[in-house]
Amino acid sequence: MLVLGIETSCDETSSALVIDSQVVLSNFIATQLDLLRKYGGVVPEIAARRHAELIGYVINEAVTSAGKILTDVEAIAVTSKQGLIGCLLVGVAAAKSLSYVLRVPLLGVHHIEGHIFANLLSNPRLPMPHICLTVSGGHTMLVYVRDYCQYELLGSTLDDAAGEAFDKIAKFLDLGFPGGPVIDKLATRGNRKAYNFPRPLLKAGTLDFSFSGLKTAIINAFKHRLAGGAVLPLEDIAASFQEAVVDVLVAKTWRAARQRRVSAVSVTGGVSANRRLREVFRETCQMEGIEVFFPELPLCTDNAAMIAAAGYARFRRGEVADLNLNVFPNVPFEV
Ligand code: KG4
Ligand code: ZN
Repeated sequence: MLVLGIETSCDETSSALVIDSQVVLSNFIATQLDLLRKYGGVVPEIAARRHAELIGYVINEAVTSAGKILTDVEAIAVTSKQGLIGCLLVGVAAAKSLSYVLRVPLLGVHHIEGHIFANLLSNPRLPMPHICLTVSGGHTMLVYVRDYCQYELLGSTLDDAAGEAFDKIAKFLDLGFPGGPVIDKLATRGNRKAYNFPRPLLKAGTLDFSFSGLKTAIINAFKHRLAGGAVLPLEDIAASFQEAVVDVLVAKTWRAARQRRVSAVSVTGGVSANRRLREVFRETCQMEGIEVFFPELPLCTDNAAMIAAAGYARFRRGEVADLNLNVFPNVPFEV
């Protein structure tokens, strides 16, 4: 089945054509980086207006770059759950219109389920069950993936998401937005043992996360030097901060894997692009005797191919929406 995916939950306007949760024919992403840099982050109203400007163009690009025409599309999948309300509404309105005009099924997708499917798209042999760490700017979650569309939420962040911590530390250090890629790059030249920053909830038995204390510890440690005009050792701060985040993410994921006795873990979401995170996961997976899977880089951050893939899986279960499909900005991840 040829599924057109639409993703507008935050700051990427994306559309994709995917066959059967397996073959990505196109995955067009228009970022709002210019706006993000100008305002230092996502401004919901401005992001929604940009989606409205771009959505028609982006869908057209996804279809034509795949060598198809709109009437080839057999279903429309759209992110309808979790995200910024105005942004979600733009994608859902476009999806409803297309579904009505083309007379094809409409499929509402939870954004987090999309991230889980990013890994299944990149790694068709990813075994079930497995543990998925989904970690981005809006969420940090450990999910037991029993099978397709069958999930158990094991832990999530109590405050900031891991990507949010990257973004906030980068903002504090005046490194620009988004912070993840720039800290990732700076850290390659830094000493990760230069500072022993806190590893929140690392020793606690829980599978929940907390990153706001780490962020505050770093801000408190350097704000006076920064205000006094001192030149900070940015590479060392970046490397030490990143190491603290990676330590916590990896340790909790392995704890979950051991508790559930799975043979594989997957890592997804924007932060899964992080080089050090991938390195540490790969190193430790050999010791643990567990396989680790990551999406290809274009599928780590928000994109519509993952939404199309998840939508098809929902279609297979008979879960088809109608034109009353609504948006749910804060709905918990369904398990
Ligand atoms: O999945 P995504 O595009 O959007 C959300 O669903 O939030 O993730 C964006 C987040 C941002 O916080 C960004 O700083 C982070 O992913 N990110 C990274 C890297 N690339 C993106 N964090 C660490 N290292 C990276 N290389
Ligand atoms: Zn996301």
